[in-house]
Amino acid sequence: MNDQPSLSIHHSVIAFLGGGAMAGALIHGLIRAGVSPERLRVSDPVEKQRHLLHERHGVPVFADNAEAVQGADVVILSVKPGVVIGVLDAIAPLLQERVLVLSIAAGITLTTLTAHLPANQPLARVMPNTPALVAAGISALLPSPATPPPYRLLARQIMEAVGLVEELDNEALMDGVTALSGSGPAYVYLIAEALSDGGVASGLPRALADRLAIRTLLGSAKLLEESGLHPGVLKNQVTSPGGTTIAGLEALEKGAVRGALIAAVQAACQRSRELGAPKKS
Ligand SMILES: NC(=O)c1ccc[n+]([C@@H]2O[C@H](COP(=O)([O-])OP(=O)(O)OC[C@H]3O[C@@H](n4cnc5c(N)ncnc54)[C@H](OP(=O)(O)O)[C@@H]3O)[C@@H](O)[C@H]2O)c1
Repeated sequence: MNDQPSLSIHHSVIAFLGGGAMAGALIHGLIRAGVSPERLRVSDPVEKQRHLLHERHGVPVFADNAEAVQGADVVILSVKPGVVIGVLDAIAPLLQERVLVLSIAAGITLTTLTAHLPANQPLARVMPNTPALVAAGISALLPSPATPPPYRLLARQIMEAVGLVEELDNEALMDGVTALSGSGPAYVYLIAEALSDGGVASGLPRALADRLAIRTLLGSAKLLEESGLHPGVLKNQVTSPGGTTIAGLEALEKGAVRGALIAAVQAACQRSRELGAPKKS
């Protein structure tokens, strides 16, 4: 009987309950970071999904959450928010007290999660994003107040394997995080697609337009991060009087792109709050 938890990702068995898009991204990212596939496992009711995950990552797969939880040091709740509580209620009696539970579900609060777990179960909410797949994710981490420091560090270690981590001390921020960085990759892909369409509309071949759009987003983000300059300063540096860029920017402002992006994040934030709100009976 091992009373001392293994508090390193390389010595922990990590079980994902729900093997969809986000679990796949995290599994891929963890393996890429050197975690052995044998130390990961995933449960999913869909045979095709299990087959895919096993073929792609070499991880053990289970149809039954209870089987996946057996012997796990960390359980990651990676099902859709509407399913989390049912899954939690079914596995809670099986959890040893040293098992760290991580929930990546949008909107489901620590209070709700805690109410469905044994007292003092190490627990944290995490909001990752899919660039975790290529170790370029950003996650917000919020441990429950009762979670001891070694478990907080383990949660951090897991998420740092797939990108940067921002630790929160206020759960009210989690809906905004979900709306910005959790959902954000979808907004960026939409922008990439639209930029490429603009290139095609201007006569470029599609493949060239795609490559230019991707690299422009990637390079601009890198410059923004590495220079530490305000986006407005970098924008002004590209914009000469009466030139091409100001003509493009004017069209963006006429299309209210700035307002649309602000509204997108706010709408996603509102949806995250709704997902976490208690259901009216
Ligand atoms: N995708 C993102 O970018 C992202 C970012 C941050 C956080 N998240 C969070 O991550 C969680 C998963 O999102 P996702 O996009 O990965 O969803 P997803 O692709 O739908 O994956 C969820 C998986 O769980 C399976 N499942 C359903 N009921 C289950 C059960 N009782 N036990 C085990 N597995 C079950 C689903 O099967 P069926 O298809 O048959 O239902 C599906 O394969 C969500 O809570 C979401 O809020 C997602």
